[in-house]
Amino acid sequence: MSNKLRTNILLVFLFLSVASGFILDPKQYSGNGETPTHWRNQAKANILKKARAAPVVGKAKNVIMFLGDGMSIPTISAARILKGQLEGQLGEETVLSYEQFPWSGLSKTYCQDSQVTDSAASATAYLCGVKSNIGTIGVDASVQFGNCNSQQGAEVTSILDWSMAAGKSVGFVTTARVTHATPAGLYANVAARGWEGDYYTHSVAGGCKDIAAQLIDDYKPIQVIMGGGRRFFRKFDQPDPEHGSNAHYGRRDGRDLVQEWMNGQQNLGRTHRYVWNETDFNSIDPATTDSILGLFEYSHMQYELERKDPHHEKAGEPSLAEMTDKAIKILSKNPKGFFLLVEGGRIDHGHHAGRAKMALYDALAFQDAVAKGNELTSESDTLIVVTADHAHTMVFAGYPSRGNDIFGKVDDGHGGASKASDNLPYTTLLYGDGPGFHITNGHRDDISHVDTTDKHYQQQTAVYKTSETHGGDDVAIHARGPMAHVLSGTHEQNEIAHLMAYASCVGDYVNDADCAASLTG
Ligand SMILES: *[C@@H]1O[C@H](CO)[C@@H](O)[C@H](O)[C@H]1NC(C)=O
Ligand SMILES: [Zn+2]
Repeated sequence: MSNKLRTNILLVFLFLSVASGFILDPKQYSGNGETPTHWRNQAKANILKKARAAPVVGKAKNVIMFLGDGMSIPTISAARILKGQLEGQLGEETVLSYEQFPWSGLSKTYCQDSQVTDSAASATAYLCGVKSNIGTIGVDASVQFGNCNSQQGAEVTSILDWSMAAGKSVGFVTTARVTHATPAGLYANVAARGWEGDYYTHSVAGGCKDIAAQLIDDYKPIQVIMGGGRRFFRKFDQPDPEHGSNAHYGRRDGRDLVQEWMNGQQNLGRTHRYVWNETDFNSIDPATTDSILGLFEYSHMQYELERKDPHHEKAGEPSLAEMTDKAIKILSKNPKGFFLLVEGGRIDHGHHAGRAKMALYDALAFQDAVAKGNELTSESDTLIVVTADHAHTMVFAGYPSRGNDIFGKVDDGHGGASKASDNLPYTTLLYGDGPGFHITNGHRDDISHVDTTDKHYQQQTAVYKTSETHGGDDVAIHARGPMAHVLSGTHEQNEIAHLMAYASCVGDYVNDADCAASLTG
């Protein structure tokens, strides 16, 4: 080959490669470099997928409800970005597990007597199907908060009762205490959510039974109970296996509810396990186990960020996804189907503490649990509903650059921090109220040299409250499976219980002529 030919070939090659570069991508695009073609293709693919997706019409054999306690819409948006950033992406384009579900809607969360609800009244709405007064569980709105005598005859039943009556297997898992407001909505009737153990009820006039005793006395058929809250099940003088003698919330009535649960399961002829740590949890074979009581903490289970931290956790705890996995494998052995409630209970606690990082990592553990539920069941026979009980005051604001650390300060786009009108930097995540309120010399704190990505950092607030409050804004519903499409649009929160009952033909909808079964003949 002559030198001249060689040069010509090289020039042609160079020309083609430069030209094709310009033709395919003649400009520099911001953000992640997405081209207009990228957005057109992305949109087209998603629209075509959704346009072709048919609703699943007919009866649901199984129902799984995933409840993110306090998982407001800003919590979902911020958790999505966190997930992407942990995977090395900018974050905003990320999709959470349940965001791939075909149907979504909004839930109006106010309760009968309060514009902003709590987890007790909201559980009564989405599990029992009626709105009630704030702080009350499993009772109607004639019951006054804290008045034991007013609850007699005002009890209401739940999707768990209805599913049990239809011969289905039932269970629940939570990262909060198993007697906390959300799971208690399945099985308890109390005028005050705080009556979790007889430490609280022994002095209440009227002799109302505590929540832990209601669970063990009245709900032996429940096959899966997992979460925290050992303190209300053990005797006053029984040391806690992880926390020693710190047992002053223990039972005054001398009962050992763990032992009573085991005796009850024995009498039902069930293979059963009581476990309180991760090693024992891992040793359970769901194929040969009929029922589990797992109480992994004295009080609530750990925050996801501290679950594997030996300073916080001594004996090890399973994740919410691991508990979900075990629960589904046990419950799905029933040919008549099952109902399962899975609660991400500590998203709410992170927010109350004004610590967005704790809330968002728990929101990710929750989305992992939904992914597990989605993987283990089929949308042809299992309805999955993902929602929250109420919102919080966390806001997601300012004009941070694409990909800015979700726990960081709003940046100025040039490597520095953007300044608010008081000439001080501020974070993307803030709270309307809460403990992160500090005024020094007439100004809010200067966070220029504060690491706002630390898990202990409390985002700044407008109003000082030692515990941040719930929000009154609507929460999201994401759903898939039989009759999930009915949950699109805006709903009163109590409609969710009715849709689950209608889809699975239980409770008021137990006759095939009255439920989703009628739609398929
Ligand atoms: C887990 O619980 C079992 C049963 O009480 C106990 O034998 C075991 O030592 C515990 N493991 C840990 C790591 O605490
Ligand atoms: Zn709360």
